Amino acid sequence: MGDKGDGTLVVHAGLPEPVPGEPFLPGPVFAAPYHLDPVNGPGENGYGRPDNPTRRALEAAIGELEGGQVRAFATGQAAITALLLSVLRSGDTVALPSDGYFTVRAFAEGTLRDLGVSTVLVPTAGPYPSFEGVRLVLLETPANPGLDVCDVRAVSAAAHAAGALVAVDNTTATPLGQRPLELGADLVVASGTKALTGHSDVLLGYVATGDEDLLTRVTTWRAQTGGTPGAFDCWLAHRSLATLDLRLARQTANAAAVAGLLSGRSDVTGVRWPGLSTDPAYEVAAVQMRRIPGIVSFDLGSAERVARFLEASELVFAATSFGGLHTTADRRAQWGDDTAPGFVRLSCGVEDTPDLVADLSAALDKS
Ligand SMILES: Cc1ncc(COP(=O)(O)O)c(C=O)c1O
Repeated sequence: MGDKGDGTLVVHAGLPEPVPGEPFLPGPVFAAPYHLDPVNGPGENGYGRPDNPTRRALEAAIGELEGGQVRAFATGQAAITALLLSVLRSGDTVALPSDGYFTVRAFAEGTLRDLGVSTVLVPTAGPYPSFEGVRLVLLETPANPGLDVCDVRAVSAAAHAAGALVAVDNTTATPLGQRPLELGADLVVASGTKALTGHSDVLLGYVATGDEDLLTRVTTWRAQTGGTPGAFDCWLAHRSLATLDLRLARQTANAAAVAGLLSGRSDVTGVRWPGLSTDPAYEVAAVQMRRIPGIVSFDLGSAERVARFLEASELVFAATSFGGLHTTADRRAQWGDDTAPGFVRLSCGVEDTPDLVADLSAALDKS
């Protein structure tokens, strides 16, 4: 499938060879223990925590997209903490984005610090410090929620020269938006809860890598700590993956229209979308990314105006998370993000573009 387009890739990713009478995507295998060979003992499937065929099919599918081997986790946070705890040891230093997903920073400032791991916080847009003495650099690009972008190739080269590993949180971009392993990163971590699965009905995470030693560490970590996703969630995720190309295409088109609308209004400030040619992230994103995600951020000036805007809108759901079929808006300060009171992260869904633009426009007027 190497030379095929994204739509073809996602429709076929991780599917078994066709067998007459069998479904395209096999149904979920619900099993804790499996029958064992009485003589030879455990084979491919012995016990559900380490072994599940539905999960393996999903991992194969995501692996085709990321260009590495994948281990799925129950949530994005389970995947990220698995990476951090299987790689970092007491006395190590980890570099984390100062503007990335806040729970990762909270974990570093609590559990990691207690374990003797130091953290250096770096803004995604840079400037990047020397990585001497750093064991792991975790990048998040585009960063959630501010949407700054960093040059993965350049940061990876600098980190590797200093002997550090590089991981990229690919949640916002998805592997159709960028392939960090091809850009030089050692690992990808992501929440599959967002655009990857896109239907707002599954929590999922994964780690991807091309490095056998790192894969073994993460696999062992998962088997011993047990943060695996269930078979039904894996199956739902695999089914949803098939429409990723279609969903992202509409989300990006909607975000382009919404970013255009918002940046033309004098009552909206700080509009960020890496696809806008005037955006500070545009230049790096245009070279590095295969497509720009459907998330736009902006400032409505106050929490009260955000509330009026959300009440006035017919189509925008007030909700956290992003990347789903439905357009959602989240005032990030209410979750503890270090953002202005009126800062909104808007995740464009797959509604018709004219409907969405008309609804947003009217809601902004009313607010
Ligand atoms: C960039 C990023 N990484 C990781 C996570 C954590 O994912 P999950 O909620 O699936 O644990 C999130 C959740 O919002 C996120 O936005």
